[in-house]
Order: sequence, then C-alpha cells, then structure tokens
Amino acid sequence: MVYLDNSATTKPWPEVLDAYYKVASDYFGNPSSLHHPGVEAETLLSKGRASVAQLLNVNAEEIVFTSGGTESNNTAIKGIAMEHQERGKHLITSSVEHPSVMQAFQALESFGFDVTYVDVDQEGRVSVEDVLHAVREDTILVSIIHVNSELGTINPVEDIAQALTAFPKLFFHTDHVQGAGHVPLNLQGVDLCTISAHKIHGLKGTGVLFVRRGTSLSPLFHGGSQEQQYRAGTENVPGITAMAKALRLSENERQQQNGRLEHLKQNLIHRLQDLEGAVVNTPQRGSAPHIVNVSFPGMKPEVLVQELTRNHIHVSTKSACSSKLQEPSAVLLAAGVGMERASSAIRASFSHDTKEREVDEFVRILQKAVSEMMLVMGEKK
Ligand SMILES: Cc1ncc(COP(=O)(O)O)c(C=O)c1O
Repeated sequence: MVYLDNSATTKPWPEVLDAYYKVASDYFGNPSSLHHPGVEAETLLSKGRASVAQLLNVNAEEIVFTSGGTESNNTAIKGIAMEHQERGKHLITSSVEHPSVMQAFQALESFGFDVTYVDVDQEGRVSVEDVLHAVREDTILVSIIHVNSELGTINPVEDIAQALTAFPKLFFHTDHVQGAGHVPLNLQGVDLCTISAHKIHGLKGTGVLFVRRGTSLSPLFHGGSQEQQYRAGTENVPGITAMAKALRLSENERQQQNGRLEHLKQNLIHRLQDLEGAVVNTPQRGSAPHIVNVSFPGMKPEVLVQELTRNHIHVSTKSACSSKLQEPSAVLLAAGVGMERASSAIRASFSHDTKEREVDEFVRILQKAVSEMMLVMGEKK
C-alpha cells in the first residue's frame, strides 16, 4: 500500500504505541487523586507537559492538553471571544482556514460578533498588510492558519505576530496543525497555538493548545479544575505521554531528514507539471514539504481517488473533515483559481517514511487513470 494522505492522519510511531500501552496499563491512576497511583499519573502528566513545552520553547504552564485540533481551535477562538467581548466584538481570520476555525467564527457571528475574513492570493497566502489593514479599535482576536491544509502554502505567521505586537490588546492565534513536525514556527508574539497529535504520528483524540501566560479565556467545558481551569475533564495521560513522544520523534526526524521531503515534493511537482490535463495548485516556493495539490479540470476528483485506491494508492480530495462532501474546495475557490480547478483537485501528502518509489508509483497510476478518463471524456463529446 502507498499511503499518501498524511495530512488527513498519520500512522503512529511504534514507540508512541508502546508508550501509550505502558502508561495505560501500569499508570492508570487519575492524576487528580491524592493517593500513590494518582501521584504517579500526575508525575507523568507533568513530564509530558514539560517535554511539549521544551519542544515548543515555551513554559510548561502555558501548555493546555485537549482532545485535538478541533477542540484547541474552538477553545482558543470562542474562549477569547467570550472572555473579552466587553472590549470589542470584532474578530479577524482568513478565507482559507480549516473548518474547525471557519465554523467557530461562523458560530460567533450568530452570537453578534463581527468577523472579517481576509482574502488570500492565488497561492492561498494571506498578506501581513491585509491583516493589519483589517484591524480596528474593537478587534480582540486574529486567527491565521500557519500551513494551509489543502495547498501546503505557508502563511507569514511569524511576521503577522510581530506586526500585531503594535496592538497589545488583541490576541493572535494560529492553527499549526499541518505545520507541526514539518515547518518550524517561532511562537514569539503568538498568544495561542493549536497542535494535533494524530498529524505527527501520535494518537487521535489528543492535542495541545498553547496559551501564553497572561492570556485569559473562557473554557468551553466546565466541571473540573484540570489544565489550569481551561479544560475540565480527567486528562488522557497515556495519550498525552504518547503525544509528547510523537512530537519529539517528529522533530528529530525533520532535522535528520534535512530537506528530503522538500526534494520529493519538488520532484512530484515537476512531474505533475508535465502531465497532460494537470494544473498544480501547490506553490513551488513557500509551501510545506509534505503537501502537493493538483487539479484535473473537467474530471471528478472522487473518481481519480477511487481509481488510485483500487490500485492501493491512497490520497484525498481535500481536507479530511470535508472530503466526503462532493463540493468544490472552499480553499481553492477563495484562492480565486476558478470553479473548474476548485472542483477537480486531489491532494497527496507525505510523511517521514514516504519513499521515492512510492511517489513514482503514484505518478504512474495517476497518469494511467487520467489518460483513461480523458479518453472517456473525448468519446462523450
Ligand atoms: C489545519 C487543521 N486544523 C485542524 C484540524 C483538526 O484536527 P483534529 O482532527 O485533531 O480535530 C485539522 C485536521 O484535519 C487540520 O488539518
């Protein structure tokens, strides 16, 4: 099998599964309990927190463990909006966010918040100037995705964070789910940052929300004082230990591979540029090393995905949360590439263990499937 859908989810590292099993079986105490098993679990929780904090170069008390990217995004966005609404009800995001950000903002609009959706260029990139231009007296939150989940485009999040320090009263959040383990991010100037474990070979149902010291937000869940009161509920200690391990292994791998995935990506982009009927959507420069998005105008992407999967090659049409909806990609539409390209895109995404021969096999089968579809389309004309 050739698995090229690592932006949807990744295969857990064996070490991550071992860590989960060991903690779940040997240290099952509730970390809030006062007895010995509870203290042992609390010690492991603290170790996991310290390890994640060290990798992100922040303080341990700034790490909040959640159930994943969706919860971290909702907590950050709704939490800031609810807590600081007295100061203003204006929020800023981009037109190419993941649904867990987009729909959180849409929900807030129904509660009377005013949201500005900053446009992007044809590569799906937000400009620092456009974000700054949108800031108003009553803006309390800006949220901009780091690496676009469909295109791989990298947004200038560090520059935006820097520029927004001129507005000390507003908070800046970034969704770093697709960037983690692939595109380093300096959190200086960032107030809130989302990471999800299952995108970095950790386990589903675990995530991180970095909350800068001095940032207050309303929790989504009430009922316990866990996670600095930001996230009530007994912590998933085995999952958190496994996530800390996954983050460390992914970061080590990124450093050791030293540009191997970028090389694979460039190679794939070149070959797709030569493929009849293909239009590459991922920008060749300024994109993450693991995502390549390509359109086949006039063709149904679901049919291509099905044909590939019949040949044991697994890619997706768009972001996993919306890929079952046979609608054009909202991200590509926002990038202004037109309906034909937005309705015919597929995404291949690599992991640290994707091999060159797997990419070759993908191109070979794709080429065959596209030629066959072109023949059928020609006959129908
Ligand atoms: C950019 C981005 N943000 C958030 C999420 C949601 O993360 P999770 O699946 O952990 O809820 C995803 C998952 O596809 C994503 O790609």
